[in-house]
Amino acid sequence: MEHKVQKVVILGGGTAGWMTASYLAKAFGKDVGVTVLEAPTIPRIGVGEATVPNLQRVFFDFLGLEEKDWMPECNASFKTAVKFINWCTPGPGQPDPRPTPTGSDHFYHPFGLLPECDRLPLSHYWVRDRLAGTSTQPFDYACFPQTAVMDAYRAPCWPDGKPAVTYAWHFDAHLVADFLRRFSTETLGVVHAEGVMSRVQKDANGYITALLTEAGEEISGDLFIDCSGFRGLLINESMGEPFIDMSDQLLCDSAVAASVPDEGTAVEPYTSAIAMPSGWTWKIPLLNRFGSGYVYSSSFVDQDQATEEFSRLWGLDPASSFNHVRFRVGRNQRAWVKNCVSIGLSSCFLEPLESSGIYFITASIYQLAKHFPDKSFHSSLVNAFNREIEAMFEDSKDFIQAHYYFSPRTDTPFWKANKDLVLSRDILEKVETYRAGLPVNAPVVDGGTYYSNFEAEFRNFWTNGSYYCILAGLGVLPDAPLPSLAHRDGSAESKALFEQVREEGRYLAEHLPSTAEYLETIHPTV
Ligand code: FDA
Repeated sequence: MEHKVQKVVILGGGTAGWMTASYLAKAFGKDVGVTVLEAPTIPRIGVGEATVPNLQRVFFDFLGLEEKDWMPECNASFKTAVKFINWCTPGPGQPDPRPTPTGSDHFYHPFGLLPECDRLPLSHYWVRDRLAGTSTQPFDYACFPQTAVMDAYRAPCWPDGKPAVTYAWHFDAHLVADFLRRFSTETLGVVHAEGVMSRVQKDANGYITALLTEAGEEISGDLFIDCSGFRGLLINESMGEPFIDMSDQLLCDSAVAASVPDEGTAVEPYTSAIAMPSGWTWKIPLLNRFGSGYVYSSSFVDQDQATEEFSRLWGLDPASSFNHVRFRVGRNQRAWVKNCVSIGLSSCFLEPLESSGIYFITASIYQLAKHFPDKSFHSSLVNAFNREIEAMFEDSKDFIQAHYYFSPRTDTPFWKANKDLVLSRDILEKVETYRAGLPVNAPVVDGGTYYSNFEAEFRNFWTNGSYYCILAGLGVLPDAPLPSLAHRDGSAESKALFEQVREEGRYLAEHLPSTAEYLETIHPTV
């Protein structure tokens, strides 16, 4: 009997379904047939979405697609950071940062690793100077040249497309799924079946053998991928795998979203995360409009009031039409069970604060290709995959929880309740490490290697720079500088490096094209 997996069946044609189909067809297409079953009557979740930088290298590069091939098709724009607005001061939702005694209530969480001085990240010299009172610059502005680029609304790349700083993208997730459907059916031989799956056929051992549609079609296969979204039709409903609900660990469970016209000439090259009375609002800038949504906790505000607060933020009519989404937070106990693998919203979901959804899909596909099975579905392979997904999810969940827990806001019941979150031992250890002035998750490789080697990035996704940005941005400082710094006479070198960061930022802000100019060359007809 042929032992190789010959036919993969994917249930669902959202971002997860089409990303998985195109990647697997590219990786194994000579030997393996890939079919996507999608119900045109059941809508995808996709909104305007933000991503992380590895999407190009790990996913699009693997497919042989350059930015110029996909960006125009997906109405894409640039994201160089998340800008957190009003996460430290009490007050209503408002788009602009509130003034504070030392500046304004905002901080950036940019992509890219921190510069190093004498093999130590610049963060430690910043802490030393800050605690000694010799520097008043905020952490992000002192250590990342990108902040100047963002404040000046510059594109993250030069007119010839060469990157100037590390960046990711915003796009319309529906357009991405449509683009990948065309690409994978026209060039990679993926079969697109349309219909509503109504029944799952299994063998005596509980392995799936076929999906049956309402129209009576039977789609058989060896390996089944559940990309059916929050429904988890295969993994949860059919295989009975429990979903671990974590709504007590991250309180937001709903969103109200809309596309907002924006006739302003500047396009921000970052995602904004604006704190609200019962959650936060994303702002994803595109040419001539931005996507936005209020992510809130239904325990603290109902849909009508959330819509009212969201409308007030952008001056919208609360009676206009909005996209209301209810989501589940958590993960499947096992992402892969027998011959069924869940990817996308059917597998796990964290609210979108750090844009982890599409990253989780990218990483899951990469791990599936790495652990691709034969028909024995060896438990070692399955268990190894499941361990990777669990570690990936838990690490990001901890990181996002820390944003809420360490925010000094206590002005509404929602923000107060976040101070009662129970943090995992892992994140508590990281925060203790931070407070002691030590590096947290400092990569052992340089920026070039980190961003070109997904294995290194996957094992160390939120790096020292990320922890410092968020914790310092929220006003939590280490108790003391790194003790070994007292034995180094690095003052002149670190001073020169801080000056170099400032100078590089000034140069980039002056010479890079504006984001709007750059996007107009990509989307001339928008
Ligand atoms: P999705 O629900 O989109 O697709 C499910 C598919 O299954 C559909 O094609 C449907 O037709 C099909 N289907 C369902 N039942 C079926 C049946 N019986 N028969 C046949 N087909 C069936 N991520 C990110 O990286 N950055 C971000 O900024 C955001 N923002 C964001 C905001 C909000 C409010 C949410 C809820 C989510 C995000 N995400 C995100 C996550 C992101 O939206 C998500 O990860 C991807 O769009 C993937 O979605 P899926 O494809 O898994 O499900």
